[in-house]
Amino acid sequence: MQEFLIQGGRPFSGSVEVHGAKNSVLPILAASLLSGGMCRIHNCPRLRDVETSAEILTRLGCAVRREDDALLVDATTLTRSDIPDALMRKMRSSVIFLGAILARCGQAEMSFPGGCELGSRPIDLHLAALGALGADIRESGGCLHCAATHLAGTEIHLSFPSVGATENIMLAACAAEGVTVIENAAREPEIVDLQDFLVAIGADVRGAGGSTVAIRGGKPLHGCDYRVRADRIVAATYLAAAAAAGGEVEICGTDYRRISTVTSILAEAGCNIRSTGDCVLLRRTGRLAAVRPVRTAPYPGFPTDAQAPIMAALCTARGTTVFVENIFESRYRHVAELRRMGADIRVEGKVAVVSGVERLSGASVRADDLRGGAALLIAAFGAEGESHVTGLSHIDRGYDAPEAAFSRLGADIVRRDVP
Ligand code: UD1
Repeated sequence: MQEFLIQGGRPFSGSVEVHGAKNSVLPILAASLLSGGMCRIHNCPRLRDVETSAEILTRLGCAVRREDDALLVDATTLTRSDIPDALMRKMRSSVIFLGAILARCGQAEMSFPGGCELGSRPIDLHLAALGALGADIRESGGCLHCAATHLAGTEIHLSFPSVGATENIMLAACAAEGVTVIENAAREPEIVDLQDFLVAIGADVRGAGGSTVAIRGGKPLHGCDYRVRADRIVAATYLAAAAAAGGEVEICGTDYRRISTVTSILAEAGCNIRSTGDCVLLRRTGRLAAVRPVRTAPYPGFPTDAQAPIMAALCTARGTTVFVENIFESRYRHVAELRRMGADIRVEGKVAVVSGVERLSGASVRADDLRGGAALLIAAFGAEGESHVTGLSHIDRGYDAPEAAFSRLGADIVRRDVP
């Protein structure tokens, strides 16, 4: 087992480049299946979920290899259309392969991604939408069997702007005859990234970033060279860490506009934030102050993925901050661990009330999910004394070499093996 050993209470000072976005690269890797050719995907972070996607592609018959920061996917020939249970379990979001495999092979088989760390996480919207496009979907023994000899474009209204469902529809619709229109589509920047990739392989997709996305299917597709954009949640995590530790940092390679809901909260809490070119500068000297209620919402609202990191930073703010988690039903698992460090947080349903304490103290804590794990690192950077953080496999799902990045920012953090 591994842990992060963190000596807290050191103000940050330094600069770091943000790596490619996990939530962009995963659907893009699934989309590479549609190309039927060679895709060179640059700025591909080294993350467990990316490795799992590469394993899925390899299993389906693609040749996948890494060249520096790029993943090369040769999807010329596919040999199968099913994903085994072991791979589905490694990464719940592997369900975004469904639309891509269906589009490419006319059939797909995978186990049902059941409950997970953030709650039940159903995929009813995905399945209803693929059904509307003409897929025949049957479920037996926890396994999904999908067949579609002929997909046809249609209008799909999502009752909730689900990111994964929007992506699955976009992927399947590339192979559907005619035009598919998604109403109430997710507007997340990662949807824009997926559209840009699909356009790069020759697809006709428009409207991403807005609530209506239109896909004209049936275009001949091909390989491409594509660069994944920076991970806005990783950028938000670094900023929250600097807010917790204090000091001055520069976070580069990121688009300021994609994280403005997070930076405005940090500014309200008393951080001095400026953007220059593709860098965001944060300086925090005095104690943070509590902010108005933080309500998670679909983009362009405050991202649920930044809820835990920002909460960790505000544990020592002067005053009380209320968090309302509107996206996932079980996303406060970091709270019990933050309490071990001295935080004063009460949770009732989807509301968490954080009463700022003077300081946190280092402790032994365990990450139970990806962003909750990041929150523990952030709390440890600001805490007095030594912290031991375990459960690193969760953190490694979304942060490429976090100890190197945080060290560059001035943190005292080492990864080490423990019995
Ligand atoms: C994606 C992100 C995740 C982020 C989330 C919300 C990836 C790989 N993951 O997850 O990091 O936290 O968006 O920004 O991109 N829902 C249903 N039925 C469905 C689909 C979703 O009820 O068929 C519900 C979910 O249970 C959840 C909410 O809708 O409560 C949001 O889910 P969704 O937007 O689909 O998130 P993901 O795509 O799973």
